[in-house]
Amino acid sequence: MKTSIVLYCRPGFEKECGAEIQEKAAWNEIYGYLEIVKKQGLVFFHLHNEEDGETLMEKLPLKRLIFTRQWFVTLTEKIELPDYNRVEAIVEALGSDWQYADLRMETPDTNDGKALTKFCRKLAVPLRQALRKQKILTEQGDDDGAVLHALFLSGKEVILGFSLGTNTSQHVMGIPRLKFPSQAPSRSTLKLDEAFLYFVPKKDWESRLTSGLNAVDLGAAPGGWTYQLVRRGMMVSAVDNGPMAESLMETGQVKHYQIDGFKFKPAKQNVYWLVCDMVEKPHRVAYLMTDWLIHGFCKEAMFNLKLPMKGRYQQVQKDLQMIKDRFAEHDVRYEMYAKHLYYDREEITVHARLLSPAPLAR
Ligand SMILES: C[S@@+](CC[C@H](N)C(=O)[O-])C[C@H]1O[C@@H](n2cnc3c(N)ncnc32)[C@H](O)[C@@H]1O
Repeated sequence: MKTSIVLYCRPGFEKECGAEIQEKAAWNEIYGYLEIVKKQGLVFFHLHNEEDGETLMEKLPLKRLIFTRQWFVTLTEKIELPDYNRVEAIVEALGSDWQYADLRMETPDTNDGKALTKFCRKLAVPLRQALRKQKILTEQGDDDGAVLHALFLSGKEVILGFSLGTNTSQHVMGIPRLKFPSQAPSRSTLKLDEAFLYFVPKKDWESRLTSGLNAVDLGAAPGGWTYQLVRRGMMVSAVDNGPMAESLMETGQVKHYQIDGFKFKPAKQNVYWLVCDMVEKPHRVAYLMTDWLIHGFCKEAMFNLKLPMKGRYQQVQKDLQMIKDRFAEHDVRYEMYAKHLYYDREEITVHARLLSPAPLAR
């Protein structure tokens, strides 16, 4: 049987997702060819070597893939489901050799896919029961076990596969469902909310996302990102020529600076978070963020890099490489991850922090 890795991305970014998996798999000496399902947010990486699927999942952290939300290795090719006894057909296709800790019912992230959600929810109940009965699905609570994926392309077609519990997204299709807070002044607020959730482990929230920390928000207006910082009890310097929402100013936690974000420098070295959503050339933003970190103007930076119309993957690679090169020049240890988050559109989110002292701190 042909084995493939199925990757989920934002519809419209299949080319970037494909280019990235092909490149990063090759770094691990794993090769295959791409099948891109345009505008469906799906990429199939058909492996030349059947066993490579699991090997790649073991070697390449999902966190290192910028454009992939979720992935799995196929266990079956596309299965045509009968009108009745769908559960039986799926159970039979799985066989009894392997066990899984969880089941994810998934669809493409398209309108047609969304229309299948109800169907999936209904089918999930008897399917789980049948899988438990056959001991294919273990009892809940085993976070490290393999995850079983059922990708429904329609009510009649499914592809089955698995991901490793230690290298998978916790969310169905890699999409966290966040609630828009009604008091937030812009929908952009969800981008920073998701970024904190994705990049900062929950166990660290009490020290890294806690009240009393100082933050700077570059390109802050009208205040969606500032809202996320204020809500966590931080004191925020909001930098933007545009107006900030009154409701945020009234909290007393926000100071508004109507100046250019590239010129703003903090008066004291007591800023923990630098966040930046300026609509600006990505290499300028990347350079500025690196400056702040190596000068010790902040401890952690969370920022968006806006994507160009063409050559998006190449541009991202170039900007991230520039940051890495500058860190390397200064011989610092650092942590940096980038992701095309669900609430991002034509942009990616980057998180960076130094793990050794800032070399140019005053
Ligand atoms: C996408 S909006 C920010 C939305 C904001 N994060 C929110 O959640 O409400 C981009 C902002 O960047 C600001 N901006 C662009 N270039 C800037 C610069 N050089 N200095 C400061 N702000 C800038 C714009 O005025 C605009 O308000």
